[in-house]
Amino acid sequence: MSCQKRSKVLSFFTDFFTYETTKSVVVKSWSVGIINRIVQLLIIVYFIGWVFLHEKAYQNIDTGIESAVMTKVKGFGLYNNQVMDVADYVVPTQGASVFCIITKLIVSENQTQSFCAESSKKFECVSDSDCSSLSVLENGILTGKCVEGPRGEKRCEIRGWCPAEDDTINTVSPMKEAENFTIFIKNSIRFPMFNVTRGNFPSNIDEKYIKTCKYDPVHNPSCPIFRVGDILKYTNESFNTIASTGGEIGINVGWVCDLDQSEEECKPSYSFTRLDDVFQDNKVSKGYNFRFAKYFRSPDGTEYRTLHKAFAIRFDILVSGKAGKFNAVPTVINVVAAFTSVGLGTVLCDLILLNFLKGAEQYKAKKFEEVRKRSPGHMTTVVQSLESGALAVMTMDTECCLVTAGDHCSHL
Ligand SMILES: *[C@@H]1O[C@H](CO)[C@@H](O)[C@H](O)[C@H]1NC(C)=O
Repeated sequence: MSCQKRSKVLSFFTDFFTYETTKSVVVKSWSVGIINRIVQLLIIVYFIGWVFLHEKAYQNIDTGIESAVMTKVKGFGLYNNQVMDVADYVVPTQGASVFCIITKLIVSENQTQSFCAESSKKFECVSDSDCSSLSVLENGILTGKCVEGPRGEKRCEIRGWCPAEDDTINTVSPMKEAENFTIFIKNSIRFPMFNVTRGNFPSNIDEKYIKTCKYDPVHNPSCPIFRVGDILKYTNESFNTIASTGGEIGINVGWVCDLDQSEEECKPSYSFTRLDDVFQDNKVSKGYNFRFAKYFRSPDGTEYRTLHKAFAIRFDILVSGKAGKFNAVPTVINVVAAFTSVGLGTVLCDLILLNFLKGAEQYKAKKFEEVRKRSPGHMTTVVQSLESGALAVMTMDTECCLVTAGDHCSHL
């Protein structure tokens, strides 16, 4: 190995095992000094107040909430001179997180499979030719004939379940008692990351309380029993409107838990919204309705049915939430981010110092050490400070004299 080669290898090692640290320029200027401290103070306040105290950046967050919802509706209504109980007006009956309370029914009784006149005005006709060109369908398949309806008017004939449903003579009023129905919500949740399980009402609640209480956001926020009329009031909907057209209401159970505190403090908060609000101004498809039928067979073997067109308030129970607990990893990451960000103040101060302050050129000369190349004539050196990213272009003469904004020349 030649002597030259050995010295190269050696110098690589000596160069590698060195430590470099930044040389600082202290600027004794009141204005920049004050700006620097204010910027640093703002950054510290932001990190402590917002990032750490408000956003709890020192916690691990679990948003993958697991939840189970069970519901039970209670109350009796009066409709068409009949007492309606839960089995009559709640569909589906299983007590799931989505269910409907029927508030209005249009009933078409004793329908059988046969031929009959359509009911609505759309199917008005004078002769068969008026019916052959129709493409709309409502209660059955059009046969193309024009026949006389039950009230003596001429309508196109259909084949299907007859007599056809007529929901245009809509004089039925909604079941008013639905306003007083109550919904009991049982919701259990789990945060899998921390293995914490909670229920939406305390386990020590007594039977008498749960039988009589009604949810109230101020006086009774932990009662899991909600009056339908109250829910509609919280969503600013009138009961009479929503009961006659139908609609969809969301009950949001929100769990925001700080598990650094006692688990008992992990309680839900309820909020209520009308989910189909966006369609209220639409001309079509307002409200919510659906049809269902009950089937019978007469002694002679013919099948018949009772068709119900139901207008209902549909309730959706939506559970959302997150839980946080102290963890070293996010804490360290955010503390480092905070310290690094305090350094951001220098960027702003450098900008002011090197561009807008009196004697900026002098500061520039002190801050940037130029790389010199001995060559005749004028040359321009671009010096960049990596730390601040500021860029300064300086013109120098050959004799190492820095040409500054002032008229004097500072020799290096
Ligand atoms: C609802 O209950 C209240 C109090 O029990 C009663 O005064 C009111 O008449 C009831 N409303 C309906 C529509 O039945």
